[in-house]
Amino acid sequence: MTKKLYIETVGCQMNMLDSEMVVASLRKKGYELTDAVSEADTILFNTCSVREHAEHKTYSALGRLREHKKAHPGKVIGVLGCMAQKDQKLIFEKAPYVDIVVGPGQLQQVPDLIEKVESERGQHTALSLGRKSGSVDQIKRSHETFDPLRDPTMRPTPFQAYLRIQIGCDKFCTYCIVPMTRGPEQGRSPEEIIDEANVLAAQGCKEITLVGQTVNSYQYKGESGTVRLSGLLQQLHEIEGIERLKFVTNYPKDMTLDLLETIRDYPKISKYIHVPLQSGSDEVLRRMKRGYTVDDYRRMMDRIRETIPGSSVSSDFIVGFCGETEEEFGETISLLRECRFKNSFIFKYSERPGTKGAEHLEDDVPDEVKKRRNNELLSIQNQISEEDNQVFLGQNVEVLVEGPSKWAKQNSDQDSQVLQLTGRTNCDRIVVFDGNRRLAGQILPVGIYEVTPFTLLGTVVTEHRVPALTNLGV
Ligand code: SAH
Ligand code: SF4
Ligand code: F3S
Repeated sequence: MTKKLYIETVGCQMNMLDSEMVVASLRKKGYELTDAVSEADTILFNTCSVREHAEHKTYSALGRLREHKKAHPGKVIGVLGCMAQKDQKLIFEKAPYVDIVVGPGQLQQVPDLIEKVESERGQHTALSLGRKSGSVDQIKRSHETFDPLRDPTMRPTPFQAYLRIQIGCDKFCTYCIVPMTRGPEQGRSPEEIIDEANVLAAQGCKEITLVGQTVNSYQYKGESGTVRLSGLLQQLHEIEGIERLKFVTNYPKDMTLDLLETIRDYPKISKYIHVPLQSGSDEVLRRMKRGYTVDDYRRMMDRIRETIPGSSVSSDFIVGFCGETEEEFGETISLLRECRFKNSFIFKYSERPGTKGAEHLEDDVPDEVKKRRNNELLSIQNQISEEDNQVFLGQNVEVLVEGPSKWAKQNSDQDSQVLQLTGRTNCDRIVVFDGNRRLAGQILPVGIYEVTPFTLLGTVVTEHRVPALTNLGV
């Protein structure tokens, strides 16, 4: 008999990928996905702890299930992922009707735990060791991945997939909970990664995004020496069917020349680098324990621009970190103006219990100030994005077509063949254009006639004898 699974996912690409694996493992047990909680036999939340807001979202979703579970006590409710690892049994205290709490390093146990609840009831946890609860090896072993299982229906599109190359993080930035929830940094073996990429290619996947907390720190020490991200990308480049390779996220200190040259020399690799700066003030970076100075970052940007013409760089920022003065914030504005990122993800600092920041530094910037700084930085970034997008007016860009745009999904009739489509350039800019839905998965030239801060608007170039498509490196 088929059973129905409802799963809600918040957080980063790592969590999207984890949900894909969980769904694949439950499909093997006869589950089908449903969008309706009311229909579901099992209800799962794959959670994030990176900011308080993400946790609130999950706790309020759980709150809404209180009555539902009373009416249907046979249903299984599970909390998975980073908040499960962080809050552990506290989740049972806040939502006593939750049946299982499973950390990101134990997700392979989800199918068995669901069966256990169905047969014996009771509340069960499967969690990894804390960062101080054993030897490094024991802690590492307690964070397992089970990546070989894939479920194409859970992907961003059928042509795009995430592929994990690394788990955990050892950088311990003072604001960040990730090293606690995801455990020590560990690179997967290149053999496993290549095997999985071959499986994805055979399934028709054209774009692979390598994921990890700091992928450019990736290292795997094998019998034939140490493999780094550059070597891994070169091997993946050989796989037939794979047309685009991306990787997120990067750590400024580890942006080595061999990686930049590989991005330059191997055409399938997207000329796009997400490498979070977080703050433009040396003092703030020091309090964040980011391990680089503004000058280091500047030199890294110069290296990127010199080595890979036409590349785009994007960043993350935290505003209102402990003790951030107007002057320090001003330095962030100047550096943003100088670096001219393609786009930036900007976050208000959220204190995370369990981090060094929460322990030693005071979260003393008022929320209104964080909000104002957030808006200010965002508006400067948007202005930069719009200005830099102007360069594309009248140019042709190469777009990997992803499918109907969000607008088309809401406004077009389900059967219409020609509708608004969306895709991305090699440097990760979003392009919107009209076309047949069958074009999804193809790489096409699109002529750009209008730009906004977030998108390039264009039309598909049907005449292929157009001047150089790649003169901008796009
Ligand atoms: N591993 C990635 C980032 C992981 S978290 C990296 O090192 O770049 C994604 C982003 O969330 C971070 O880049 C940071 O900007 C933001 N972030 C992390 N912890 C935060 C916190 N406590 N409050 C606000 N933003 C935070
Ligand atoms: Fe968090 Fe820093 Fe690790 Fe990124 S590098 S996951 S911000 S601790
Ligand atoms: Fe959130 Fe965990 Fe990712 S805390 S950002 S889901 S690694």
